[in-house]
Amino acid sequence: MDLTRLQTETFLRGAEHHVEINSTNDRALELCRDAELPVPYLVLADQQTSGRGRGANRWWSSDGALLFSIIVDAAEFALPESRWPQVSLTVGVTVCEVLGNVSSAAVGLKWPNDIWLNDRKVCGILVEIPPVQRGRLVIGIGLNVNNSFAAAPPELQTIATSLRDEVGAEFDRANLLNDVVRQLDADLRRLAENDSSLPSRWQSRCVLRERTVSLDTSQQVVTGRCLGIANDGALRLQTPSGEQRFYGGIVRRIV
Ligand code: BTN
Repeated sequence: MDLTRLQTETFLRGAEHHVEINSTNDRALELCRDAELPVPYLVLADQQTSGRGRGANRWWSSDGALLFSIIVDAAEFALPESRWPQVSLTVGVTVCEVLGNVSSAAVGLKWPNDIWLNDRKVCGILVEIPPVQRGRLVIGIGLNVNNSFAAAPPELQTIATSLRDEVGAEFDRANLLNDVVRQLDADLRRLAENDSSLPSRWQSRCVLRERTVSLDTSQQVVTGRCLGIANDGALRLQTPSGEQRFYGGIVRRIV
């Protein structure tokens, strides 16, 4: 992967590539301790030995996936803390649209941080706030590109997929990464400017809309018909007691 080209053509000011690492998010969180780190900074890996998902989830990957984390300084984008919870959805629409440009398969956003291709998970996003150097955000993205799920653990084969598995062709990972990084730069600026196109984009990509879902908020499990995603990023559910909005949780069941 040509990191020099990537830094010339995008907002990245620093980058590193690992053949194998525990987790690009863990490495990025560690790098955040350095106040002098040139940001935005990319940590890219071919393989992870302890890739992480939300909560206690692990992220399985094999050769051919795009695994990376980008450290950004929110102040550089004038991104107020009140909008940080919407970063994950913003990254989601960014990746959806990049995938939509290279394939005609149905690409959608499963609130709050998954991307689906033909109803299966093709990408996961993990945004973390480092405990040091306040103002920085770590945006972790695992995108299944040329890796096939034919070799994945059986429990993943029915719920996850890759671009190659769906489209039947290999993709240039460097080009995809370049596209994601460039569009991410533009979309983070839109988020900071409160650009109204963003909520309508994540709304139009919402795969849960009109479906009955059960949301586990860790305090309760709420079931309702999804009315889409609100402008502030909340999941809207029509429940027997009226419309309710949720800012976090795990969607457990979709009918
Ligand atoms: C999820 O689906 O819950 C989020 C998965 C995020 C996976 C990516 S892979 C690159 C980066 N490093 C990690 O350890 N996790 C993220």
